[in-house]
Amino acid sequence: MTHSDSHATPSPLTARKSAALNGRARVPGDKSISHRALILGALAVGETRIAGLLEGEDVLNTAKAMQALGAQVERTGDFAWSVRGVGVSGFAAPKHALDFGNSGTGCRLVMGAVAGCPISAIFDGDASLRSRPMRRIVDPLELMGARVTDSQDGGRLPLTLRGARDPLPIVYRTPVASAQIKSAVLLAGLSAPGVTTVIESEASRDHTELMLKHFGAQIVSEKEGIHGRKIALTGQPELRGADVVVPADPSSAAFPIVAALIVAGSDIVLTDVMTNPLRTGLFTTLREMGASIEESEVRGDAGEPMAQFRVRASQLRGVVVPPERAPSMIDEYLVLAVAASFAEGTTTMRGLQELRVKESDRLEATAAMLRVNGVKVEIVGDDLIVEGTGHVPGGGLVATHMDHRIAMSALVMGLASDKPVTIDDTAFIATSFPDFIPMMRRLGAEFS
Ligand code: S3P
Repeated sequence: MTHSDSHATPSPLTARKSAALNGRARVPGDKSISHRALILGALAVGETRIAGLLEGEDVLNTAKAMQALGAQVERTGDFAWSVRGVGVSGFAAPKHALDFGNSGTGCRLVMGAVAGCPISAIFDGDASLRSRPMRRIVDPLELMGARVTDSQDGGRLPLTLRGARDPLPIVYRTPVASAQIKSAVLLAGLSAPGVTTVIESEASRDHTELMLKHFGAQIVSEKEGIHGRKIALTGQPELRGADVVVPADPSSAAFPIVAALIVAGSDIVLTDVMTNPLRTGLFTTLREMGASIEESEVRGDAGEPMAQFRVRASQLRGVVVPPERAPSMIDEYLVLAVAASFAEGTTTMRGLQELRVKESDRLEATAAMLRVNGVKVEIVGDDLIVEGTGHVPGGGLVATHMDHRIAMSALVMGLASDKPVTIDDTAFIATSFPDFIPMMRRLGAEFS
């Protein structure tokens, strides 16, 4: 059963102008790291113990896929999981289609891992995932020897992938800055003899590289050009099960952070937020806009830094966000557009073409969310231009398009707009932040 079937009845929710938000919270574990911990655990020999796993639907679908491919995956406590892997290239052919629900990351990374194993698997997902491009993943995997034997128009899901019996190491230049493409090639490269190299002209999140190192692979990353990276992985390592502590997800922290900035008088603390510099473009931008965000208690775990954030309500001003910042905040433009709506002046976000192929067309959906709430907004080419006036009329009904981040962004907007903001469906929030509504209520958010 796909996600869309399991939530047949939409559940709308309304956010209202709230009194100051206050208190401490820890948002759930990082989604990118949670997927990777399960996948690398499944490809390692021995036990991987994961603390702080995101127990959202996207990640749970990856856990099920790892089981279907032969790994032992067990929940041992709250957010604590154990994985006993099958070793590099050791996946067994699954007996049923792998259903990734709403998750592009789960689906694409597992495609990479399967591409290096001599098995066939069917990949499927919900209506949103079925509409997303897969050629960008399949192209390099076919160069390595895998084959798509059945797919929908343009290589979309559902598709059948036959892994390579003797995968070839390749040198691959990614056509767009995408950690999903990079990671798929590296995971397939684990099974190839020799060195698999990925070159990206703009660095994308490097959690796969950091975690591969943590599990014992030999992997070297160096600068390439001004913003890029060249990553070289030596194939056929023996990955050893490892302990992984998952820090709190900065992309989820983004919602209470922006809420605290726009709701008058707010003062909140968020703990353990991951501060990998390839994920923190939103925080840089908000600070440029005048946001009061203090970081303290910085510490690192298995290569991933984290910090405690104190956020206070702030008068924001419009800024220009340069295109090269996009990879480090690709999932945060929706909520940044909300912050920009409450700022004084124009915010121009440049180079957002990748937003068109996320869980929804986020460029159009963001503009629609703002417009229906009385904010002046324009799309010019791949740029989004928001005219902030310091307040938002609100009163709109926002279509969430099976996209968790639209749902949460619109609810954040309603906490400070003049009139309430309603979303058509809360269901997809569970893909990445199942506790969002109760956690925001504990901080003082008014939802009804
Ligand atoms: C992710 C990479 C990003 C991001 C997604 C998570 C990852 O996608 O949008 O939510 O974990 O690798 P792209 O790398 O395709 O931009």
